[in-house]
Amino acid sequence: MGDDQLGHNELLTTRLALRRPTRAAIDTIYRIHHDPAACAHNPADMLATRADAEDRYHRWDQHGFGYWVIHPREADAQHGIFGFCGLKLMHLQDQQVLNLFYRLDPAAWGNGIATEAATAVVTWATTNLPDRRIIARVRPDNIASATVAGRTGLRRAEHLDTAGEDGLDWIFTKNWTPTRTQSPGSPIRARD
Ligand SMILES: CC(C)(COP(=O)(O)OP(=O)(O)OC[C@H]1O[C@@H](n2cnc3c(N)ncnc32)[C@H](O)[C@@H]1OP(=O)(O)O)[C@@H](O)C(=O)NCCC(=O)NCCS
Repeated sequence: MGDDQLGHNELLTTRLALRRPTRAAIDTIYRIHHDPAACAHNPADMLATRADAEDRYHRWDQHGFGYWVIHPREADAQHGIFGFCGLKLMHLQDQQVLNLFYRLDPAAWGNGIATEAATAVVTWATTNLPDRRIIARVRPDNIASATVAGRTGLRRAEHLDTAGEDGLDWIFTKNWTPTRTQSPGSPIRARD
């Protein structure tokens, strides 16, 4: 979306600048997704080669909105890209939803960066795509991810828990109460 009607090109927070990925991010996409620590809970997301990272980059950018690269707001030689955060359209229980994603360089963990970035992304989506529900899929033992999802205002919705590529995903969302006919989560149809 070249004219940026959705105000998506740059999101600013106190410490961060979230920007649309460019090809310059491919090396960092590869480095972080080739790091077993960064993919410990989601080994299916790991990338084997830089060509896989290039492919991932193209998939991130295909809907006119999607993922952002998390930069420090103030250009600072000590910090490069912190990681990635964003939204992906997918289906859950036959609804099109926005899946909230975050993955940071392990060197950046533990400083509230994911919470700050994910909160900006959820605020952006609530404003610009209000008809789409936001979900987060969290592996049950990924406490950091569950904490971040909770801090953006999403809450565990056990009735939506779903089998993912790496096993059971706990689903976090807002205002999605079970209906009488709702069956346990159907398999997710798209991955990051
Ligand atoms: C999930 C992730 C993005 C969190 O990034 P982060 O910037 O460290 O997150 P934040 O600092 O905003 O918040 C994490 C909170 O969880 C807490 N936490 C992390 N691991 C924890 C653990 N094992 N037990 C208890 N609390 C834990 C942190 O202490 C922090 O809380 P605090 O602010 O009260 O100290 C990061 O760990 C990551 O990139 N993980 C790999 C990718 C991933 O799993 N993504 C999610 C699934 S796709």
